Amino acid sequence: MSLCWSDTMGKNILEYNSMRKKVSEKKLFEKEVEEKLGRNDDCWCKSGKKYKKCHCAFDEKLEEYRLKGILVPPRRIIKNPEQIQGIRESAKINIAILDYIDTHIQVGISTQEIDDWVSSITKKHNAIAAPLNYEGFPKSVCTSVNNVVCHGIPSKEEILKEGDIINVDVSTIYNGYFSDSSRMYCIGEVSAEKKRLVDITKQSLEVGLQYVQPWRKIGDMGAAIHEFAMENGYSVVREIGGHGVGLEFHEDPWVSYVCPKDTGMLLVPGMIFTIEPMINMGKEDIYISDEDGWTVYTDDGLPSAQWEIQVLVTDEGYEIISY
Ligand code: MF3
Ligand code: CO
Repeated sequence: MSLCWSDTMGKNILEYNSMRKKVSEKKLFEKEVEEKLGRNDDCWCKSGKKYKKCHCAFDEKLEEYRLKGILVPPRRIIKNPEQIQGIRESAKINIAILDYIDTHIQVGISTQEIDDWVSSITKKHNAIAAPLNYEGFPKSVCTSVNNVVCHGIPSKEEILKEGDIINVDVSTIYNGYFSDSSRMYCIGEVSAEKKRLVDITKQSLEVGLQYVQPWRKIGDMGAAIHEFAMENGYSVVREIGGHGVGLEFHEDPWVSYVCPKDTGMLLVPGMIFTIEPMINMGKEDIYISDEDGWTVYTDDGLPSAQWEIQVLVTDEGYEIISY
């Protein structure tokens, strides 16, 4: 999935993301070379069970879908119970960090202070902040205020004021496992317009979650979110999406919230990905700061909101791993 550094040099993240999406889809449709197992071999998922008692019937089912031209997940993104438990432990820290922010964020603090909290709570748990030094990102958390769509860089110059809305996006590595979720905060009294944007964006996750079911395509979830946002008079950012996550920070699939339904990768038990739509009050267009190469702004200067949850596909539907 990942591109080597030389492929991404000189590209901004929008080009990078769309390149990544193309490469990953091409690779996935090509079907990766995956070892063919005998019924009595140990299962590829490293559960310790025999293949016939573990993923054998599952693989046969997946192959039927693949032959029908449906994009099926490769083995490397399907997590076994031990890995899922590891990812849950990482998520507990991620959730605790956001819970701390819930009760401490207020008028007058700087976004650098949020970075300090994230950094120190992460260290206290013997964990690592995934954003720090990720592709050169300089801080431990992303803080995106008002017309900043995402990837805002904390700064001691940036002071939160009454009426601001801010997304705080936290990602943690613990014992090698990755968690990722983000929340919106309204600072003091915010306008009814901004409050509605924040609320509708949160509700859009609930709408999307109803479509997270095994053996259903991920595009149904994305399409439902898009439709819901549009019904409410908003637009959805196209160039930046969600992602598989758990064993790495960004895994397949790339997750769109503007796609047609009945498209994209088949969801199967053991997949973990984020639902993290960026919803704009005005137009969908965005641009990246020339100055820092990270901060993504709405083109029209109107506010943008985002909530992010990390979701596991289960046999019955879904489990929210991080929020
Ligand atoms: N949580 C964001 C994501 O989903 C984090 C981006 S980290 C950054 O990708 F370093 F790229 F900013
Ligand atoms: Co994410």
